[in-house]
Amino acid sequence: MGYKDLKFPEGSLFLVTGGAGFIGSNLCEAVLNLGYKVRCLDDLSTGKKENVDLFLDHPDYEFIKGDIKDLDTCLKACEGVTYVMNEAAWGSVPRSIEMPLYYCANNIQGTLNMLEAARQNGVKKFVYASSSSVYGDEPNLPKKEGREGNLLSPYALTKRCDEEWAKQYTKHYGLDTYGLRYFNVFGRRQDPDGAYAAVIPKFIKQLLNGERPVINGDGRQSRDFTYIENVIEANLKACLAPSEYAGEAFNIAYGGREYLIDMYYGLIRALNVEMEPVFGPERPGDIRHSNADISRAKAELGYDPEWSFQRGINEAIEWYKTNL
Ligand SMILES: NC(=O)c1ccc[n+]([C@@H]2O[C@H](COP(=O)([O-])OP(=O)(O)OC[C@H]3O[C@@H](n4cnc5c(N)ncnc54)[C@H](O)[C@@H]3O)[C@@H](O)[C@H]2O)c1
Repeated sequence: MGYKDLKFPEGSLFLVTGGAGFIGSNLCEAVLNLGYKVRCLDDLSTGKKENVDLFLDHPDYEFIKGDIKDLDTCLKACEGVTYVMNEAAWGSVPRSIEMPLYYCANNIQGTLNMLEAARQNGVKKFVYASSSSVYGDEPNLPKKEGREGNLLSPYALTKRCDEEWAKQYTKHYGLDTYGLRYFNVFGRRQDPDGAYAAVIPKFIKQLLNGERPVINGDGRQSRDFTYIENVIEANLKACLAPSEYAGEAFNIAYGGREYLIDMYYGLIRALNVEMEPVFGPERPGDIRHSNADISRAKAELGYDPEWSFQRGINEAIEWYKTNL
């Protein structure tokens, strides 16, 4: 079962931080489609106003332009809120190596402010974005909660710190927190542009424009690419999870493994173009292989992802063909 039949108490209000971004805007849309109210808090630093404009006319949608680094903003945004889905953060491993101080302020202090604001406002569940990067250099596959290695980047450190802070808020203040360790999410509205863009939308756009994509390394690195629909399901199910599993973090992926080079040639075939990639240097801080054990999320959140990589990539390609 996906998420479309899930029921929440009448009058529930969801706060999505980072709601103008890729994952956040999809969460806002899913909540509206289920018939509940959603408030989006975003500073539009990496998110897009057009992801807000999509819903501005909807009576159950509210947008606050604000920064989670500011505690007062977080406190106001949490007023009357039932569930928080905290997505606001800066992504990108290489950018975090360039800007460690900003990542600490934005991704750690920002989430800590949101935890505090949720606590003070009696929020029922605090679901937040963590990342597969917390596994660092742990070599064993599949990645399993409780078996983490040394962190490879400031970005990964921020996500690990968020998990530890969330644990403290569950332990000392009884706030039900659930960390979702996303594995390479892709799908509609993911930004294809800029130096720090994710690989799937970037390659699709380049191939559609007749440009040659650059693969960092030899292309034999692998990823558990996760379609956005699975991530929506995980967030909504975490909002309904039992309190006994609060304070934990869960792998959110499909549980598959695609080599980058195979993904590349799959795109070539699907887009019906001929283009050989350029191979560039490996990026510092990148993980070589990534594949998730999702049994904890299945057992404790009732997560049961329906979208394989292939099913998701077909839908994503169609979306980019008409929306780029
Ligand atoms: N996309 C992935 O593959 C992936 C993988 C692992 C974890 N994550 C995490 O999921 C979350 C969402 O990622 P995304 O891919 O949608 O990225 P995104 O950049 O599209 O969205 C993040 C949003 O947060 C907003 N934001 C950033 N800092 C803010 C601040 N201080 N105050 C208010 N808003 C702020 C941005 O403007 C943007 O709209 C992030 O926490 C990210 O670290 C994403």
